[in-house]
This record gives sequence, C-alpha cells and structure tokens, in this order.
Amino acid sequence: MLDRAIARFKTPGLRDLSHSAPYMHNGQFDTLDDIIGFYRVVSTQARAATLRNDAVRLQRIALTAGDVTSLVAFLKSLNEDYQ
Ligand code: HEM
Repeated sequence: MLDRAIARFKTPGLRDLSHSAPYMHNGQFDTLDDIIGFYRVVSTQARAATLRNDAVRLQRIALTAGDVTSLVAFLKSLNEDYQ
C-alpha cells in the first residue's frame, strides 16, 4: 500500500501553520498539540512494528512529553506576522 500511496497526497507546507487549522488532509486535528501527540503515538508504533504502512523515517522520531511545548513553540515560530 505504501508504494501505491506515494504522490497521492500533497504534503502541506508548515509556513504560517497556526492560521491553517484544521490539520492533515482530512482536517482530523484542531491543534498543534494534537499533531505532536499523533507523531508520538505513531513513531512508537512504528518502532514496535505495529503501525500498518509505516514509513521508516517515523521510527527515528523519539519525542517525550517534555518535548511537546518546545516543538509546538517552534512550529508557531513559522507564522507570518500580519500585524
Ligand atoms: C516530529 C516530526 C514531525 C513534525 C513536527 C511534523 C509536523 C507536521 C504537521 C504540523 C503537519 C500538518 C500540516 C497541515 O495540515 O497543514 C504534518 C503533516 C504531514 N507530515 Fe509531518 N511532521 C513530522 C514528521 C513527519 C515525517 C517523519 C513524515 C514522513 C515520513 C511526515 C509526513 C507528513 C505528511 C505526509 C503530512 C500530510 C498528512 C495529511 O495531509 O494527512 N511528517 N506534519
């Protein structure tokens, strides 16, 4: 399935991320915290080989609960300044 999924979705850019919720192609996440939580879960599943159609790059993501605040702050730093 993974091979057949390649280039089927346009991966969204992260620029001005705070102003483009909901996130992912199906709008399944409302907040950046939700997305980091998602990556924490799927990367753990990828390492345990329990994630269907995983990508090898996901296995190398190792986020702790303490990383969430700083990673969300980084993603917010990609916002445009409209004021
Ligand atoms: C900790 C690391 C990562 C962070 C913080 C991150 C962050 C994000 C965010 C914020 C989005 C949503 C963008 C939007 O909807 O506007 C996104 C989507 C996406 N990311 Fe990541 N990402 C990470 C790792 C990865 C990796 C390793 C891959 C590929 C193996 C990946 C592939 C994708 C794809 C394909 C989407 C689009 C999904 C969809 O539209 O449903 N990301 N990512």
